[in-house]
Amino acid sequence: METDKKTVIITGASRGIGHATAMLFMERGWNIITCSREGVPDECGRDPNWTTHIPTDLSDPESLNNFISQASDALDGAPLHGLVNNAGLSPKTPYKERLGCLNGDIDAWHEVFEINFFAALRLSRGFASALHKGKGSIVNITSIAGHSIHPFAGSAYSISKAALSALTREMANEFAALEVRVNAVAPGEIETSMIQPEYEALIPRIPLERMGSPRDVATTVYYLCSDDSNYVTGTEIWVTGGQHLF
Ligand SMILES: NC(=O)c1ccc[n+]([C@@H]2O[C@H](COP(=O)([O-])OP(=O)(O)OC[C@H]3O[C@@H](n4cnc5c(N)ncnc54)[C@H](OP(=O)(O)O)[C@@H]3O)[C@@H](O)[C@H]2O)c1
Repeated sequence: METDKKTVIITGASRGIGHATAMLFMERGWNIITCSREGVPDECGRDPNWTTHIPTDLSDPESLNNFISQASDALDGAPLHGLVNNAGLSPKTPYKERLGCLNGDIDAWHEVFEINFFAALRLSRGFASALHKGKGSIVNITSIAGHSIHPFAGSAYSISKAALSALTREMANEFAALEVRVNAVAPGEIETSMIQPEYEALIPRIPLERMGSPRDVATTVYYLCSDDSNYVTGTEIWVTGGQHLF
Protein backbone atom coordinates (compact mmCIF):
# COMPACT_ATOMS: atom_id res chain seq x y z
CA MET A 1 0.00 0.00 0.00
CA GLU A 2 1.35 3.44 -0.94
CA THR A 3 1.64 5.36 2.32
CA ASP A 4 1.72 8.83 0.73
CA LYS A 5 -1.86 8.30 -0.43
CA LYS A 6 -5.05 8.56 1.59
CA THR A 7 -6.92 5.31 2.35
CA VAL A 8 -10.64 4.56 2.46
CA ILE A 9 -12.51 1.41 3.50
CA ILE A 10 -15.74 0.77 1.56
CA THR A 11 -18.23 -2.02 2.34
CA GLY A 12 -20.39 -3.62 -0.36
CA ALA A 13 -18.03 -2.79 -3.22
CA SER A 14 -18.87 -5.72 -5.51
CA ARG A 15 -21.53 -3.74 -7.38
CA GLY A 16 -23.86 -0.73 -7.31
CA ILE A 17 -23.16 2.36 -5.21
CA GLY A 18 -20.23 0.78 -3.34
CA HIS A 19 -18.49 -0.19 -6.56
CA ALA A 20 -19.00 3.26 -8.12
CA THR A 21 -17.66 4.83 -4.91
CA ALA A 22 -14.56 2.64 -4.96
CA MET A 23 -13.91 3.55 -8.63
CA LEU A 24 -14.26 7.29 -7.88
CA PHE A 25 -11.87 7.22 -4.90
CA MET A 26 -9.36 5.28 -7.03
CA GLU A 27 -9.65 7.84 -9.85
CA ARG A 28 -8.85 10.50 -7.25
CA GLY A 29 -5.72 8.65 -6.12
CA TRP A 30 -6.84 6.98 -2.87
CA ASN A 31 -5.91 3.49 -1.68
CA ILE A 32 -9.02 1.32 -1.44
CA ILE A 33 -9.75 -1.50 0.99
CA THR A 34 -13.11 -3.20 0.40
CA CYS A 35 -15.34 -6.07 1.39
CA SER A 36 -18.45 -7.90 0.18
CA ARG A 37 -19.44 -11.57 0.02
CA GLU A 38 -18.54 -11.74 -3.68
CA GLY A 39 -15.25 -10.72 -5.24
CA VAL A 40 -14.82 -7.55 -7.28
CA PRO A 41 -14.67 -7.50 -11.09
CA ASP A 42 -11.25 -8.74 -12.33
CA GLU A 43 -10.24 -5.41 -13.85
CA CYS A 44 -10.68 -3.73 -10.43
CA GLY A 45 -8.64 -6.35 -8.62
CA ARG A 46 -5.77 -5.65 -11.02
CA ASP A 47 -5.66 -1.93 -10.18
CA PRO A 48 -2.79 -1.38 -7.73
CA ASN A 49 -4.77 1.31 -5.86
CA TRP A 50 -7.41 -1.30 -4.99
CA THR A 51 -4.98 -2.70 -2.45
CA THR A 52 -7.18 -5.25 -0.68
CA HIS A 53 -10.57 -6.90 -1.17
CA ILE A 54 -11.58 -9.22 1.67
CA PRO A 55 -14.57 -11.52 1.06
CA THR A 56 -16.81 -10.91 4.09
CA ASP A 57 -20.36 -11.64 5.22
CA LEU A 58 -21.29 -8.61 7.33
CA SER A 59 -24.33 -10.44 8.75
CA ASP A 60 -21.90 -12.77 10.54
CA PRO A 61 -20.04 -11.03 13.43
CA GLU A 62 -17.14 -13.51 13.16
CA SER A 63 -16.65 -12.74 9.47
CA LEU A 64 -16.95 -9.01 10.23
CA ASN A 65 -14.30 -9.24 12.99
CA ASN A 66 -12.06 -11.11 10.57
CA PHE A 67 -12.49 -8.21 8.11
CA ILE A 68 -11.47 -5.69 10.79
CA SER A 69 -8.43 -7.77 11.62
CA GLN A 70 -7.31 -8.31 7.98
CA ALA A 71 -7.96 -4.71 6.96
CA SER A 72 -5.99 -3.50 10.01
CA ASP A 73 -3.11 -5.79 8.95
CA ALA A 74 -3.28 -4.25 5.47
CA LEU A 75 -3.15 -0.75 7.00
CA ASP A 76 -0.15 -1.85 9.08
CA GLY A 77 -0.38 1.15 11.41
CA ALA A 78 -1.05 3.69 8.65
CA PRO A 79 -3.85 6.22 9.20
CA LEU A 80 -7.34 5.64 7.81
CA HIS A 81 -9.02 8.66 6.20
CA GLY A 82 -12.46 7.30 5.30
CA LEU A 83 -14.93 4.54 6.19
CA VAL A 84 -17.98 4.18 3.96
CA ASN A 85 -20.66 1.95 5.52
CA ASN A 86 -22.48 1.20 2.27
CA ALA A 87 -23.38 -2.53 2.22
CA GLY A 88 -27.11 -3.00 2.63
CA LEU A 89 -29.95 -5.46 2.21
CA SER A 90 -33.55 -4.75 1.17
CA PRO A 91 -35.42 -8.08 1.18
CA LYS A 92 -38.57 -8.58 -0.91
CA THR A 93 -41.14 -11.37 -0.92
CA PRO A 94 -41.12 -13.74 -3.94
CA TYR A 95 -44.35 -12.04 -5.03
CA LYS A 96 -42.83 -8.54 -4.77
CA GLU A 97 -45.16 -7.86 -1.89
CA ARG A 98 -43.88 -5.18 0.46
CA LEU A 99 -42.48 -6.85 3.60
CA GLY A 100 -44.34 -5.14 6.44
CA CYS A 101 -44.93 -5.38 10.16
CA LEU A 102 -47.84 -7.78 9.67
CA ASN A 103 -46.35 -10.19 7.12
CA GLY A 104 -43.08 -12.06 6.58
CA ASP A 105 -40.67 -13.79 8.93
CA ILE A 106 -39.85 -11.63 11.97
CA ASP A 107 -36.48 -13.44 12.34
CA ALA A 108 -35.49 -11.97 8.96
CA TRP A 109 -35.48 -8.54 10.65
CA HIS A 110 -32.35 -9.58 12.57
CA GLU A 111 -30.35 -10.13 9.37
CA VAL A 112 -31.52 -6.80 7.95
CA PHE A 113 -30.50 -5.00 11.15
CA GLU A 114 -27.14 -6.84 11.32
CA ILE A 115 -26.13 -5.63 7.85
CA ASN A 116 -27.87 -2.25 7.65
CA PHE A 117 -27.28 -1.08 11.22
CA PHE A 118 -24.99 -3.17 13.46
CA ALA A 119 -22.27 -3.61 10.80
CA ALA A 120 -21.86 0.20 10.62
CA LEU A 121 -21.58 0.42 14.41
CA ARG A 122 -19.19 -2.52 14.74
CA LEU A 123 -16.92 -1.33 11.89
CA SER A 124 -16.84 2.26 13.10
CA ARG A 125 -15.73 1.05 16.54
CA GLY A 126 -13.27 -1.39 15.02
CA PHE A 127 -11.57 1.26 12.91
CA ALA A 128 -11.93 4.16 15.41
CA SER A 129 -8.24 4.23 16.29
CA ALA A 130 -7.03 4.19 12.66
CA LEU A 131 -9.63 6.86 11.79
CA HIS A 132 -8.42 9.01 14.69
CA LYS A 133 -4.89 8.76 13.28
CA GLY A 134 -6.13 9.95 9.88
CA LYS A 135 -8.58 12.60 11.25
CA GLY A 136 -10.90 10.63 9.04
CA SER A 137 -14.52 10.71 8.01
CA ILE A 138 -17.26 8.09 8.33
CA VAL A 139 -20.11 8.09 5.80
CA ASN A 140 -23.18 5.93 6.45
CA ILE A 141 -25.42 5.19 3.45
CA THR A 142 -28.95 5.61 4.78
CA SER A 143 -32.09 5.94 2.61
CA ILE A 144 -35.05 8.13 1.78
CA ALA A 145 -37.08 5.16 3.11
CA GLY A 146 -35.75 5.84 6.62
CA HIS A 147 -37.66 9.14 6.67
CA SER A 148 -41.10 8.40 5.24
CA ILE A 149 -43.20 5.49 3.97
CA HIS A 150 -41.83 4.06 0.73
CA PRO A 151 -44.21 2.11 -1.54
CA PHE A 152 -41.77 -0.78 -2.14
CA ALA A 153 -39.12 -0.77 0.61
CA GLY A 154 -40.15 -3.02 3.52
CA SER A 155 -40.63 -2.00 7.14
CA ALA A 156 -37.52 -3.78 8.50
CA TYR A 157 -35.38 -2.06 5.86
CA SER A 158 -36.89 1.38 6.45
CA ILE A 159 -36.63 1.14 10.24
CA SER A 160 -33.03 -0.11 10.06
CA LYS A 161 -32.19 2.93 7.91
CA ALA A 162 -33.99 5.28 10.32
CA ALA A 163 -31.86 3.76 13.10
CA LEU A 164 -28.74 4.31 10.97
CA SER A 165 -29.67 7.99 10.56
CA ALA A 166 -29.97 8.27 14.35
CA LEU A 167 -26.69 6.39 14.81
CA THR A 168 -25.03 8.96 12.52
CA ARG A 169 -26.12 11.75 14.87
CA GLU A 170 -24.92 9.92 18.00
CA MET A 171 -21.61 8.92 16.40
CA ALA A 172 -20.96 12.46 15.12
CA ASN A 173 -21.17 13.66 18.71
CA GLU A 174 -18.99 10.90 20.20
CA PHE A 175 -16.39 10.61 17.40
CA ALA A 176 -15.78 14.38 17.44
CA ALA A 177 -13.52 13.76 20.46
CA LEU A 178 -11.39 11.61 18.12
CA GLU A 179 -11.40 14.35 15.44
CA VAL A 180 -13.44 12.02 13.23
CA ARG A 181 -16.43 13.44 11.32
CA VAL A 182 -19.56 11.30 10.82
CA ASN A 183 -22.21 12.02 8.18
CA ALA A 184 -24.81 10.17 6.13
CA VAL A 185 -25.90 10.15 2.51
CA ALA A 186 -29.58 9.33 1.94
CA PRO A 187 -30.18 8.14 -1.63
CA GLY A 188 -33.59 8.11 -3.31
CA GLU A 189 -34.05 5.85 -6.36
CA ILE A 190 -30.60 4.90 -7.66
CA GLU A 191 -30.15 2.58 -10.66
CA THR A 192 -28.61 -0.54 -9.11
CA SER A 193 -29.67 -4.16 -8.62
CA MET A 194 -31.75 -2.96 -5.64
CA ILE A 195 -34.13 -1.23 -8.08
CA GLN A 196 -36.92 -3.36 -9.63
CA PRO A 197 -38.99 -2.56 -12.77
CA GLU A 198 -41.94 -1.33 -10.65
CA TYR A 199 -39.76 1.55 -9.36
CA GLU A 200 -40.15 3.26 -12.81
CA ALA A 201 -43.59 4.35 -11.62
CA LEU A 202 -41.89 6.60 -9.05
CA ILE A 203 -40.12 8.80 -11.63
CA PRO A 204 -43.03 11.28 -12.00
CA ARG A 205 -42.63 11.97 -8.26
CA ILE A 206 -38.97 12.98 -8.70
CA PRO A 207 -38.56 16.70 -9.49
CA LEU A 208 -35.41 16.05 -11.57
CA GLU A 209 -37.47 13.44 -13.50
CA ARG A 210 -34.90 10.66 -13.50
CA MET A 211 -33.43 8.04 -11.24
CA GLY A 212 -29.98 8.76 -9.86
CA SER A 213 -26.81 6.96 -10.90
CA PRO A 214 -24.43 5.24 -8.48
CA ARG A 215 -21.92 7.95 -9.45
CA ASP A 216 -24.35 10.66 -8.21
CA VAL A 217 -24.09 9.07 -4.76
CA ALA A 218 -20.34 8.40 -4.99
CA THR A 219 -19.49 12.07 -5.64
CA THR A 220 -21.43 13.12 -2.52
CA VAL A 221 -19.67 10.46 -0.44
CA TYR A 222 -16.36 11.73 -1.80
CA TYR A 223 -17.22 15.31 -0.79
CA LEU A 224 -17.93 14.15 2.77
CA CYS A 225 -14.56 12.36 2.93
CA SER A 226 -12.63 15.27 1.43
CA ASP A 227 -11.13 18.36 3.06
CA ASP A 228 -13.88 20.41 1.35
CA SER A 229 -16.23 19.28 4.14
CA ASN A 230 -13.82 19.78 7.06
CA TYR A 231 -16.45 21.50 9.26
CA VAL A 232 -19.36 19.24 8.31
CA THR A 233 -20.40 16.55 10.80
CA GLY A 234 -23.71 15.06 11.93
CA THR A 235 -25.34 15.87 8.59
CA GLU A 236 -27.40 13.73 6.23
CA ILE A 237 -27.30 14.75 2.57
CA TRP A 238 -30.25 13.85 0.34
CA VAL A 239 -29.28 12.45 -3.07
CA THR A 240 -32.82 12.04 -4.34
CA GLY A 241 -33.33 14.44 -7.26
CA GLY A 242 -35.75 16.24 -4.90
CA GLN A 243 -37.95 13.19 -4.24
CA HIS A 244 -37.74 13.74 -0.47
CA LEU A 245 -39.61 17.04 -0.80
CA PHE A 246 -42.96 15.22 -1.14
N1 LIG B 1 -30.30 1.71 -4.99
C1 LIG B 1 -31.07 2.52 -4.32
O1 LIG B 1 -32.02 3.09 -4.89
C2 LIG B 1 -30.81 2.85 -2.88
C3 LIG B 1 -31.65 3.78 -2.27
C4 LIG B 1 -31.45 4.12 -0.94
C5 LIG B 1 -30.40 3.53 -0.23
N2 LIG B 1 -29.61 2.62 -0.85
C6 LIG B 1 -28.54 2.03 -0.04
O2 LIG B 1 -27.31 2.12 -0.74
C7 LIG B 1 -26.46 1.03 -0.34
C8 LIG B 1 -25.95 0.32 -1.59
O3 LIG B 1 -27.07 -0.20 -2.29
P1 LIG B 1 -27.03 -0.61 -3.84
O4 LIG B 1 -28.24 -0.07 -4.44
O5 LIG B 1 -25.70 -0.32 -4.42
O6 LIG B 1 -27.26 -2.18 -3.65
P2 LIG B 1 -26.68 -3.44 -4.41
O7 LIG B 1 -26.39 -3.12 -5.84
O8 LIG B 1 -27.60 -4.54 -4.06
O9 LIG B 1 -25.27 -3.65 -3.66
C9 LIG B 1 -25.26 -4.01 -2.31
C10 LIG B 1 -23.82 -4.27 -1.89
O10 LIG B 1 -23.86 -4.69 -0.51
C11 LIG B 1 -23.14 -5.93 -0.41
N3 LIG B 1 -23.72 -6.78 0.62
C12 LIG B 1 -25.01 -7.19 0.75
N4 LIG B 1 -25.13 -8.06 1.76
C13 LIG B 1 -23.87 -8.19 2.29
C14 LIG B 1 -23.34 -8.95 3.35
N5 LIG B 1 -24.10 -9.80 4.09
N6 LIG B 1 -22.01 -8.87 3.61
C15 LIG B 1 -21.22 -8.07 2.87
N7 LIG B 1 -21.66 -7.32 1.86
C16 LIG B 1 -22.97 -7.40 1.57
C17 LIG B 1 -23.29 -6.57 -1.78
O11 LIG B 1 -22.20 -7.45 -2.03
P3 LIG B 1 -22.31 -9.06 -2.03
O12 LIG B 1 -23.68 -9.44 -2.53
O13 LIG B 1 -21.19 -9.46 -2.94
O14 LIG B 1 -22.08 -9.46 -0.61
C18 LIG B 1 -23.19 -5.36 -2.70
O15 LIG B 1 -21.84 -5.06 -2.98
C19 LIG B 1 -27.31 0.14 0.57
O16 LIG B 1 -27.03 0.44 1.91
C20 LIG B 1 -28.73 0.56 0.23
O17 LIG B 1 -29.61 0.33 1.29
C21 LIG B 1 -29.79 2.26 -2.15
